[in-house]
Amino acid sequence: MTSDTDKRAAAIAAVGEIQPGMLVGLGTGSTAAHAVAALADRVRAGLRITAVVTSKATEALAQSHGLTVLPFDDVPQVDLTIDGVDQIDPALRAIKGGGGAMLREKIVAAASTRMIAIADGSKRVAQLDRAIPVEILPFARAFVLRRLADLGGPAVLRATRSDQHNLLADAAFGPIADPAALAAELSAIPGLLGHGLFLDEIDATCIADDGGIVWQKR
Ligand code: 5RP
Repeated sequence: MTSDTDKRAAAIAAVGEIQPGMLVGLGTGSTAAHAVAALADRVRAGLRITAVVTSKATEALAQSHGLTVLPFDDVPQVDLTIDGVDQIDPALRAIKGGGGAMLREKIVAAASTRMIAIADGSKRVAQLDRAIPVEILPFARAFVLRRLADLGGPAVLRATRSDQHNLLADAAFGPIADPAALAAELSAIPGLLGHGLFLDEIDATCIADDGGIVWQKR
């Protein structure tokens, strides 16, 4: 099994949780793209749902599949969001934002009654240790980069900007012993608009390993 086959298997299993009439949050990335395709298959088979998206890329993909996408700024609550992760630990704490969409992803996740993280088995880790994606207001670039370095997470700016035209960077803290403490420190930096630590948002994971699906619920 390739990791893409497992991503697809996890996406299809999670899309099976979507009920008629739901407002569905659609994540960003290659695993979430499989979920969009699987949802489109169910819609073509007669399922009626509406959707909101976490990025311009997912909006274009969902619309290309003929899904009805509502503007999120009109939506106070989402029934179920399905999204990928970059790393996830046994307590369902994750790092997201490899695709730079973590600010919108976290807002949609927070608005969701339920969030399912989908992944292939390579995303499962005992301890989060990947560099944390951050979104930075351009005005605050040098200040935020200095604060991150002071906190022990020197950051490398990406060449691309976010959907909000802000800067994106990856802050390398190494193994994260206390994700909650680090998340609080990051959230307290003025000009740091969002970060990829998702500590409470994920209600369940659906992970595929060599085609076998494993669910874990909080
Ligand atoms: C985008 C994300 C993605 O969900 C995460 O990077 C996983 O991507 P992929 O499914 O392509 O491995 O957080 O901002």
